[in-house]
Amino acid sequence: MTDLASRFHDAPLDTALVATLSAGGLTPARVDDADRAQVDAWLGAVARGFLDGEPNDQRREAFFDHTAYRRKIGVYDTDAPQPLEPVATFASWGAALAVPGGDLPACAISAVTVSPTHRRRGILRTLMAGELRTAAEAGFPVAALTVSESTIYGRFGFGPAAAVADWRLNVRRARWTGPAAPGRVDFVTREQGRALAEALHERVRPASPGELDMPRGHWDRFFGTRPDAEKPELLRVVQYASPSGEVDGIALYTVTENEDDFTESSLGLQVLLAATDAAYAGLWRFFLSMDLIGTIRAPGLAVDEPLWWMIADQRAATITVRDHHYVRILDVPAALAARRYDVADTVAIEVVDPLEIAGGPFVLTTDVDGAGFVEVADEPPLGLPSLRLGIAELSALLLGGVSAVTLARAGRIETDDPERIARIFQTVSAPRLSFWY
Ligand SMILES: CC(C)(COP(=O)(O)OP(=O)(O)OC[C@H]1O[C@@H](n2cnc3c(N)ncnc32)[C@H](O)[C@@H]1OP(=O)(O)O)[C@@H](O)C(=O)NCCC(=O)NCCS
Repeated sequence: MTDLASRFHDAPLDTALVATLSAGGLTPARVDDADRAQVDAWLGAVARGFLDGEPNDQRREAFFDHTAYRRKIGVYDTDAPQPLEPVATFASWGAALAVPGGDLPACAISAVTVSPTHRRRGILRTLMAGELRTAAEAGFPVAALTVSESTIYGRFGFGPAAAVADWRLNVRRARWTGPAAPGRVDFVTREQGRALAEALHERVRPASPGELDMPRGHWDRFFGTRPDAEKPELLRVVQYASPSGEVDGIALYTVTENEDDFTESSLGLQVLLAATDAAYAGLWRFFLSMDLIGTIRAPGLAVDEPLWWMIADQRAATITVRDHHYVRILDVPAALAARRYDVADTVAIEVVDPLEIAGGPFVLTTDVDGAGFVEVADEPPLGLPSLRLGIAELSALLLGGVSAVTLARAGRIETDDPERIARIFQTVSAPRLSFWY
């Protein structure tokens, strides 16, 4: 754990958070990661909140073993018949978010639930505002999360910063027209795939703004290498090795047989990591030439996937684009200075933050080397191109996932020169996050 991550993990609860919930007769508390009964009760509440069944012993044990690094908050109602089971849950931890040309410490948030018995009395609002203040005070420049519903988090300043594309590909129509990769594709065991995944993901991440470092325990869940994995026997793993023997890519998938017509079976791609263009071509070509597979489903791809230009018939792909990775800037100067820019310019930015954590007037200057510098201004400076926007919209611009021209036309930002602002924030490729957390 980094210093920042461990400082945040151990930080006391925000005083306003405690005061507000206590005034409503509730008791917020940090869950003791070493206390199995507390963690079990907390996990039970999370599972119910996400409409899952009661966790079995294997699931409880695996959760206990893998998640001590997460700061877990429970909100307890001592008048309830089961007072040890929280009526609300919230987890967060120190992560690393790839931004264009850099990496940024991020407070990752997950397991946000409020019991249906206690909904819509402001518990989420109080938890979120308090935990974001604590994250900002600890020193996180951004917070980030993936969402069950798009409509929940904008009010707290989160912007949809990286969209993803879910692909459904008609394999026979698609026909591979991409290059032939020089390396080889081979099957490996799930354990071998798991062992390769972490380092490959970290190789891929710097060139993929929007990707978070993988939360501990996730790789084992994906590859079915932890005791609570569901149906691990259905998972298949292939690797791509370059002619020199370096493993530059892996893919994890399942196959569903079509008993009415075996040639129309379908393949579900769970993970595809390619650290080189050759590995990308080698793995995709492998999938597009598999016998008996009529359809490939691949969720969570980039919205500008090169694959679209490697098939003969682009209409073979049905692509659904959706919002996925939400980012919330907590410190404007630190967040904007962490990324690279392609043009040198200066702009006056006035940021409005509904939670009053990160708003204010700023001046962003980008130089010819791609660095960005932010000064806190006393008031919006005159004589510069100006940009006035909410913290959610600035967070959406941070990774280059949307053009300022689009946001201006949508009435989401105010600026006297949308095209100039768009050129400052634009990036060469679309951001992406390839998993949920
Ligand atoms: C989503 C959830 C955490 C909300 O908790 P809550 O304590 O009822 O929310 P609050 O009362 O604090 O509401 C805060 C604000 O969010 C809004 N809101 C709450 N849930 C919402 C939802 N599902 N969709 C849209 N808006 C929502 C409220 O209307 C309120 O808006 P306002 O302050 O602008 O008037 C809760 O309904 C839940 O646990 N849902 C199931 C699990 C889930 O989806 N969790 C989110 C995981 S990403």
